[in-house]
Amino acid sequence: SDYQNLIFENQDGISVITINRPKALNALNADTMGELDRLADTLAKDPAVKVVIITGAGDKAFVAGADISYMQPLGAVEGREWAKFGQAVFNKIENLPQPVIAAVNGFALGGGCELAMACDIRIASEKAKFGQPESTLGIPPGFGGTQRLARLVGKGRAKELLFTADMIDAAEAYRIGLANKVVAPEELMDAAKAMAQKIMSRSPIGVRMCKVAINEGLDTDLETGVAYEAEVFGLCFATADQKEGMAAFLEKRKPNFTGK
Ligand code: HXC
Repeated sequence: SDYQNLIFENQDGISVITINRPKALNALNADTMGELDRLADTLAKDPAVKVVIITGAGDKAFVAGADISYMQPLGAVEGREWAKFGQAVFNKIENLPQPVIAAVNGFALGGGCELAMACDIRIASEKAKFGQPESTLGIPPGFGGTQRLARLVGKGRAKELLFTADMIDAAEAYRIGLANKVVAPEELMDAAKAMAQKIMSRSPIGVRMCKVAINEGLDTDLETGVAYEAEVFGLCFATADQKEGMAAFLEKRKPNFTGK
């Protein structure tokens, strides 16, 4: 494969990306980020991929952060470029046309927590641990963590997690809304795939419009957000999926969606 630090396999519409540097707890170095960037471009253009799942290799870590040995010698300009690049990669993942599920199998720290937060949905193993330990290293999060964590769990909880650098377990991540659900470690991939399959049974157009309306709208004010919602809602009435979904309901049968 042209990827050294990622494994990916496409099966039945689901693409599973595994961050694969287990000796460094899957820490994100420049090469790995470059590969993620390239793979995101490829997946975005692949109509055979309906849902993406991101996980980490091994049984210890999802991703234990950006690679500290890579970052330690960086200067200010390089540091800024690194943050900008990582933010662009994670924005790309967040805005992939497909739904993206993080299957958080272990440590999701720093850039790893930020990667999980760039995904649409987070399913955590009971062994998962979340945190933003950057303040122990003399930096704030730089791959979107200050913004996405505050949006997901609220300002107060985000500030507590960032200031204290505390690690939280899966149950606490679930309680504060950082994890969508928690499952036994051995059930993690099945749970992620089952959710992927359920999403795939819904209309691709409907799901896609939900994603863009939330992603585009939530970063604006309510009035702009609901106006955008009305536009994508209206757009769906020019699609076969809307005609089929509503006809199937009225005819008391299962819909046969084409995503067109
Ligand atoms: C580089 C890392 C790493 C990281 C772990 N390793 N995390 N290398 N960058 N983020 C390496 C260790 O150095 C070690 O290598 C090997 O992985 C195994 O880790 P251990 O520490 O021996 O494991 P353990 O004692 O079980 O502790 C696990 C851990 C700890 C609690 C997760 O590794 C840890 O605290 N990691 C750093 C977490 C962190 O601070 N992340 C945030 C990074 S900053 P050797 O060679 O010794 O075997 C960040 C900023 C993002 O993410 C934004 C950038 C713009």
